[in-house]
Amino acid sequence: MTSVTAGGPTGRTTTVTAFAPATVSNVACGFDVLGFALHEPGDEVTARIIPAGVQIESISGDNGRIPREAARNTAGVAVLALLAKLGHRGGVALSIRKGLPLSSGLGGSAASAAAAVVAVDALLGSSAPVETLIACALEGERLGAGSAHADNIAPAICGGFVLVRRASPPDVVRLPVPRGLTAVVVHPEIEIETARARALLGDTVALADAVKQWANLGALIHGLHTSDFALIGRSLEDTIAEPKRAPLLPGFAMIKRAAAEAGALGCSLSGSGPSLFALCSSAAIARRVAEAMTSAVRTQIGGEPQTYVSEVAPRGARVLSTCGS
Ligand code: HSE
Repeated sequence: MTSVTAGGPTGRTTTVTAFAPATVSNVACGFDVLGFALHEPGDEVTARIIPAGVQIESISGDNGRIPREAARNTAGVAVLALLAKLGHRGGVALSIRKGLPLSSGLGGSAASAAAAVVAVDALLGSSAPVETLIACALEGERLGAGSAHADNIAPAICGGFVLVRRASPPDVVRLPVPRGLTAVVVHPEIEIETARARALLGDTVALADAVKQWANLGALIHGLHTSDFALIGRSLEDTIAEPKRAPLLPGFAMIKRAAAEAGALGCSLSGSGPSLFALCSSAAIARRVAEAMTSAVRTQIGGEPQTYVSEVAPRGARVLSTCGS
C-alpha cells in the first residue's frame, strides 16, 4: 500500500463528495451474508483536507441524533481506519448528508461509512483496493451495530447483488441479477436498532433450521444464476432471524401476505427491519406489490410509510463531484 500526501498525487484536489446507496441485507435466507444495492435513497459525504485528525464538520438529515465526535461516528471511524491503513499523516474533515432514515433497516450506517471511505480515497488519490474500502467501512458498522457484518457494506460499496463469503478479510462474490428482477422496499415510520434486533437472536440455531437456511441460500443463488424466478420465490424464506424479529413489527404476517397476494416472489425484513422488502419478477408486478404492501403497512402499523421500487442497482458508492484549488 502506498503512502499518499495531502491533496492527492497532484496536490490539487481539495474536496470530494461521494454517494452510497441504501441496501437490503439478509435477503431472507442469507443472514449476514447476502445483500443488494438500491438506486436510491442514499447518503452523501463530502471530505476535505485539513492539517490533522478526522473531524465531523456537519451532519444534516439526522435531527442532531448522530454523534459528531469522529471516534463515535460510523463515517468517522471508517475514515480513521482508512487513514491508518494508508499511513496518511494529514487529516480530513467530513460533512455528512443523511438521505437514509436512522434505524430503518436500509443500511444507513453502512451508506455513511461507504460514502466516507470512497470520498476520502478519491480525495487522497489513493485508489485503495475495494477490499480495503470494505474492511475500513466495516469498522464503522462494528461501531454502529456492535457487529462487523458486511452484508450492507459490501453492496453499498460494490453495488449489485453480493454474497459475503467472509467479512474479514473481505471475500465478496458478485452475483448475477436476472433481467426484470425488481425490489420493493417499504419503510414504516418506526425504528428498530440493529444491536437490539441482533440481541434477540442468541448464539445458537437449531440444526433443522440451519439445514433449511443453507438449502434455501444455495437454491436462491442458483435461481439468480439461472433466472429461475420460481426457485427464487421458493427460496426466499428465513428460518433464522425473521421468526425472532417479526414480533417487533405489528402485522408482519399480514403485510407479507399482502405482498404474496399481489404477486411478489417473496417478502421478508430488510436487514434487521423495520423496513420490509419484496422481490418481484417484473417492474409491473413490483408496482402492484408496492401498492399492496404500502396499504398493508398503513393499516397494520399506521403512519406514512416510504416506499421504493428499484431494480438491483449495479453501481455502489461513487464520487459525485470533485473540487480543486
Ligand atoms: N445482517 C444484519 C442483521 C443486517 O440482520 O442484523 C443489519 O445491519
